[in-house]
Amino acid sequence: MDTPPRDTEPRDTPPRASATLRAATRVLADAGVPNPAVDAELLLAHVLGARRGGAQAAALRDDALAAEQHDRLQSLIARRARREPLQHLTGLAPFRHLELEVGPGVFVPRPETEGVAQLAIDALRAVASRHPRAVDLGTGSGAIALAMATEVPGAEVWAVELSERAHAWAARNVARYGTPATHLVRGDLAEALPELDGTLDVVASNPPYVPDDAIPRDPEVRLFDPPQALYGGADGLDIVRVLSGTARRLLRAGGTLVIEHGEWQGAPIRDLLAADGWRDAATHPDLTARDRTTTAIRP
Ligand SMILES: C[S@@+](CC[C@H](N)C(=O)[O-])C[C@H]1O[C@@H](n2cnc3c(N)ncnc32)[C@H](O)[C@@H]1O
Repeated sequence: MDTPPRDTEPRDTPPRASATLRAATRVLADAGVPNPAVDAELLLAHVLGARRGGAQAAALRDDALAAEQHDRLQSLIARRARREPLQHLTGLAPFRHLELEVGPGVFVPRPETEGVAQLAIDALRAVASRHPRAVDLGTGSGAIALAMATEVPGAEVWAVELSERAHAWAARNVARYGTPATHLVRGDLAEALPELDGTLDVVASNPPYVPDDAIPRDPEVRLFDPPQALYGGADGLDIVRVLSGTARRLLRAGGTLVIEHGEWQGAPIRDLLAADGWRDAATHPDLTARDRTTTAIRP
C-alpha cells in the first residue's frame, strides 16, 4: 500500500523586524530592564549595523531579518534579560561626542559624568595658557580625560588608572581618540605623576565613592561594574581623602579640583576639602538637580 501523503511542511517565513522587536521588548520588560523598548531597538540596531533610527525604520517597513541576524539578536536579548549592561553587549558607551569601547573589567561611563567633564573642561578653557594641563585620576575607559583632550584645543592631558583591565580599555580608547598630548599611565592615584607636582591646572576625578555596605540595587552595576570602581570604604570617601592629597600636590596655586560623588556626599566632601586647606569648595547639581560634583581651588 502506498504511504499516505505527509502534511506539507510549513513554508519557512523569514522573521520580521516588527514582531521580533515587540517580542524582544516583552522579554526585557519581564526581566525588569528599565527601558525595554529602547534597549530592544538598540540591540536590533547593533545587529543590523545601524543607528537606533535604522532599527525603528526597519520595524516600520517590517523588514525581513536574515536568520543569522535574528539568532544573534535572540542571544543578545537573552543576555540583556540576565541584566548584562547594554554597553557590554554593543561594546560601546556614548560619552559626550565620543563612543568609548567598554566591556568586562571597566566601569561603564555614565551620563551624569558628562556634567563633571563639563566643569573640568570649563576650568581648563579658562586657563590663560595655550597648553593648559589636566589629569583624570581613576580614568576607567578614559572618559573624562578624552573629553578634556578632544574638547580643549592645545590641552595636555594625563589619565591615571590602577586596574590592569580598565587600563587596557582606556588604552584602546586613547588609541582611538587621544591627541598626541594625551598620556595614559597605569598606577595608583595616591602616588601618581610626582614629576608634575605643582604644574597642573585641573585635576578631575570620578573616584569610587559608594559606601561598602551600600550595595547597588541595579544588577548591571552590582554584577558587572568592577568593585574597585565602586566602593570607597565605610563612608565611601576613602579614595576622596587620598585624592585631596594628590590633587594638592599636583595642582599649581589657583588650579581647580573637580570631583564626582554621590548625591549626599557634597557636604562631607566640602568639609574634608576645607580641612585640607582647599579654597572655595562648591557643590554643583547634575541635570536632575542632584548634587553630584564638588569643585575647589588650590590655595
Ligand atoms: C567610578 S570609576 C570611574 C571611571 C571613569 N573615570 C568614568 O567616569 O567613567 C573609578 C575608577 O577609578 C579606578 N581606581 C580605583 N582606585 C584607584 C586608585 N587607587 N588609583 C587609580 N585608579 C583607581 C577604578 O579602577 C575605576 O576605573
